Amino acid sequence: MSAVSLAGVTKVFNAGRPDEVTALTDIDLTIAQGEFVSLIGPSGCGKSTLLRLIADLIPATSGTVEVAGKPAAKARLDQEYGIAFQQAGLFEWRTVQRNVELPLELRGASRAERRARAAEMLALVGLADFARHYPAQLSGGMQQRVAIARALAVHPPLLLMDEPFGALDEMTRERLQAELLAICTKTGTSTVFVTHSIPEAVFLSDRVVVMSPRPGRIAATVPIDLPVRDDAARQSPAFFEAITAVRRALREPGEIPAATP
Ligand SMILES: Nc1ncnc2c1ncn2[C@@H]1O[C@H](COP(=O)(O)OP(=O)(O)OP(=O)(O)O)[C@@H](O)[C@H]1O
Ligand SMILES: [Mg+2]
Repeated sequence: MSAVSLAGVTKVFNAGRPDEVTALTDIDLTIAQGEFVSLIGPSGCGKSTLLRLIADLIPATSGTVEVAGKPAAKARLDQEYGIAFQQAGLFEWRTVQRNVELPLELRGASRAERRARAAEMLALVGLADFARHYPAQLSGGMQQRVAIARALAVHPPLLLMDEPFGALDEMTRERLQAELLAICTKTGTSTVFVTHSIPEAVFLSDRVVVMSPRPGRIAATVPIDLPVRDDAARQSPAFFEAITAVRRALREPGEIPAATP
């Protein structure tokens, strides 16, 4: 059974109206259990839309979306995945700690278990001292880290992450990349990760899915074969070769506007 399976998926917003937008066409994508897949492509190509379809936050116009072998709607009810999206999406009236506890509450975890897990996750993202703060008292990057802690809190079998590290400084970003990889490897978590950073996609992924400009479709899939993924790997020839391969796929001649000589 695959973690995620999309077949013939198309998404049209505002169909039949003057502001109709075809965001995605003909998406076929299967993600294996434990696989880490990044989505990369120009702004507006439909990466967030694709993630929202998998999370069942919006319906597909046509095609099928399955998560853990179930229709996406069923998987959502069964809490088969954790999400950390472009906007942190925290609840302003809840403290940092109670935001992280939320998915555990939904699963009926005991208070002691929730506390312990929230503390562990907040320590992981470097926010142990901010448990009692409210989101409005944090910087954008700190709010993003709370959202990541919340997504990881229940160890979901599937993580859906939309530019989760976009607002972070380079050092924090690299540290959290390494932590995320360690968690996913240890727990066998499957991940769909949206990023604009080619090095980030290469460092994290088993496969990088390159999308073309609107209407978004899958232009190429680049397998990433790094023997080890530690800080030294970021300097290795294999790393730079993979970066070149993804960059080339993003510049595929067919995708470049006709103005190019
Ligand atoms: N709710 C919506 N209603 C109408 N159009 C939408 C909606 N959400 C997205 N779109 C359109 O769908 C297209 C894809 O948007 P999406 O947010 O998926 O892009 P993206 O690849 O995530 O871009 P970015 O890299 O800037 O985050 C865009 O043209 C956008 O205008
Ligand atoms: Mg987006």
